[in-house]
Amino acid sequence: MYADFAFGMDRKGLRGSKEINAFVNVPHSQPHATAALPLPDPATLAHSARLSDQIRDEILAAGGSIGFRRFMDCALYAPGLGYYNAGAAKFGPAGDFVTAPELSPLFSTCLARQCEEILQLAGGDLILELGAGSGRMATDLLRELIARGNAPREYWILETSAGLRKRQRQRLARELPEFAARIRWLDRLPEGGVRGVILANEVLDAIPVCRVRLSGRRVMEMRIAWEGARFEWRCLPADAELDGAVQDIVRDLGAPLPDGYVTEVNMSLRALIERWAGALTVGALVLLDYGYPRREYFHPQRGEGTLLCHYRHRVHADPLLYPGLQDISAAVDFTAVAEAGAGAGLDLGGFTTQAHFLIGCGLEEIASRQSSDDTRRWLEVAQQVKVLTLPGEMGELVKAIAFTRNLPSRPLKGFASFDQRPRL
Ligand SMILES: C[S@@+](CC[C@H](N)C(=O)[O-])C[C@H]1O[C@@H](n2cnc3c(N)ncnc32)[C@H](O)[C@@H]1O
Repeated sequence: MYADFAFGMDRKGLRGSKEINAFVNVPHSQPHATAALPLPDPATLAHSARLSDQIRDEILAAGGSIGFRRFMDCALYAPGLGYYNAGAAKFGPAGDFVTAPELSPLFSTCLARQCEEILQLAGGDLILELGAGSGRMATDLLRELIARGNAPREYWILETSAGLRKRQRQRLARELPEFAARIRWLDRLPEGGVRGVILANEVLDAIPVCRVRLSGRRVMEMRIAWEGARFEWRCLPADAELDGAVQDIVRDLGAPLPDGYVTEVNMSLRALIERWAGALTVGALVLLDYGYPRREYFHPQRGEGTLLCHYRHRVHADPLLYPGLQDISAAVDFTAVAEAGAGAGLDLGGFTTQAHFLIGCGLEEIASRQSSDDTRRWLEVAQQVKVLTLPGEMGELVKAIAFTRNLPSRPLKGFASFDQRPRL
């Protein structure tokens, strides 16, 4: 996700301002964020109020609080009301944020080159995309493969949002009518059956996470309560499973984290990667997302966690604001992803930054092909390349990881220019 950063956050997601420190360390106080964000119109606010009522009822029924993971799940995915399951524009200028495929077709064109290589190595003819958003990535990626005479036999999409499925269908039918009959939307993951590529861009960072705060050696779960007609944070001792997961991370880091440290843990990750891996018989699973290797994710200075909220192209740190109207994401612990892939019997094929991935896939040649004598167009392409590759933009904040199954062990092109597996 890409947007202007607000509230004193830098583009590395390291939040340093006093305002944010105060926000994170004291019970939730909505005015920090509401003061500077555009106000939703009354109908939109009413939509959010309906979802808030639903979450409030669940909190009261649960005895006073729910885990943040459940809150994030409702805010993003509640049927008919959650951010991804209601009608908001979400992506692009009319929405809240821009993802790499939305920003430029260069991204998906490069990814197409990686898919082409994997399909050839696997002797496969199928691409499965998870969480296809507006369908932009599928459109541009297929366009490139068709142009190169290497289109897959079928392109499958597994998308949890009914509204986005509809949007994807419309876009693909409009923009690739000749290929539309070969695109299938799945209701669930196939068990095995994919000989080819499984792709997901910015899906893992949209998976609900648990939020914790360390109090000495104790792990406190940051839960959501309803107090005085608003949501508030409430810290309670973590259950054994969450406590164990955090203790494992601290043990792995080899040094304790500071008192008061706040962070997120994705408790669904292992099972999710296992399911995705289970669909792959021969080929590769390629994931791109905002995140860090474990040592950087749980850096002592990243003491306020990695949650980012996007609302109308503003970034802030208040996930309790406007339930259903804003996106909430958490950075990905790529070491945990690598462990989950290994646990699911996959081989780690490569890990690198988005910049190196795109360069390895031929970004320079693809961009120069698009440049022309038209100075405005040239500047546009140059600007897109900058955002996709510069370290302070998506270039280093987004990482690419590939897992392979039953492929010859040789570097995939996206990872050949600078494979950073030792960082994991
Ligand atoms: C941040 S958007 C990214 C969209 C798109 N991949 C892009 O890069 O523009 C996250 C997407 O993942 C979908 N999603 C969330 N959880 C999912 C899951 N478990 N399986 C498949 N899709 C999921 C959402 O509905 C949404 O389409």
